Amino acid sequence: MSAAPGRPQASSHRSAQHEGTPVVPPVLLSARQVGKAFMHQGQPRWACRDVSFDLYPGEVLAVVGESGSGKSTLLRLLAARHACDEGSVHYDVRAESSGESAGLADLAALSEARLRWLARTDWGFVEQHARDGLRMNVSGGANVGERLMALGARHYGKLRSEALSWMERVELDTGRIDDLPGTYSGGMQQRLQIARNLVTHPRLVFMDEPTTGLDVSVQARLLDLLRELVDELQLAAVVVTHDLAVARLLAQRMLVMKDGRVVEQGLTDRVLDDPQHPYTQLLVSSVLTP
Ligand SMILES: Nc1ncnc2c1ncn2[C@@H]1O[C@H](COP(=O)(O)OP(=O)(O)O)[C@@H](O)[C@H]1O
Ligand SMILES: [Mg+2]
Repeated sequence: MSAAPGRPQASSHRSAQHEGTPVVPPVLLSARQVGKAFMHQGQPRWACRDVSFDLYPGEVLAVVGESGSGKSTLLRLLAARHACDEGSVHYDVRAESSGESAGLADLAALSEARLRWLARTDWGFVEQHARDGLRMNVSGGANVGERLMALGARHYGKLRSEALSWMERVELDTGRIDDLPGTYSGGMQQRLQIARNLVTHPRLVFMDEPTTGLDVSVQARLLDLLRELVDELQLAAVVVTHDLAVARLLAQRMLVMKDGRVVEQGLTDRVLDDPQHPYTQLLVSSVLTP
């Protein structure tokens, strides 16, 4: 069902609306009517459908909605971990040699090698469960150094000092650099996962419920840290969360998803202070009501 690389969008039977839509820089990432279906009891069922937005450099977008609304599926489409069954995702790919912008490219048209390179350098992906984003059988320090090694760094002393400085930056005890991540607490594992992702200075980080499952006090500090890092490094991010407070703290704009579709999107303050869609109103009021 996935679009073949290079196939014109006209192959989609629902393409009339987005055919010819101009997609011009400085947009960093552009989603147009993206959708993904999974087979369910012999029938395709849309996990996410008809989602469109543009993300600009340095901008943080929150995707909120209840469990099962399609948030993680959308994130995986944006990060090319799933192929789109409908629509397309374009990204402002940088030339490997010069680092200059090479213009918006359709992710479906990029080679596996190119996508892997993007995922290791220009993108980060912070998994909901830190274990899924870490290598549990190598040390904390090696987890941070690994992405640098993938970029060709070999000098042991430099890798170690980078790992130490990133551990400090995410407020991890540097004395734990040689310990396996399995010996870290949940909050520490999440910090390690963040350091591992940011060490290559990505321009865009995808985060799936980065604070879910942690103690409330740990969540609060981690959120502050994320906000500081996003500001300092001028990161663009797409943050999936079911927690409106996370959206409020981190994101300039938000999408509200329900049953795989976006029911409302806009500036975070506007959406949270003056929700228009009944579902958003319900979400907001359920946070306010004890
Ligand atoms: N790999 C998969 N295989 C089959 N169904 C899936 C898969 N991933 C997600 N789904 C289904 O897609 C829907 C949306 O899931 P998901 O994107 O994980 O939602 P959320 O992250 O908002 O909780 C759910 O009905 C889920 O069961
Ligand atoms: Mg999810």
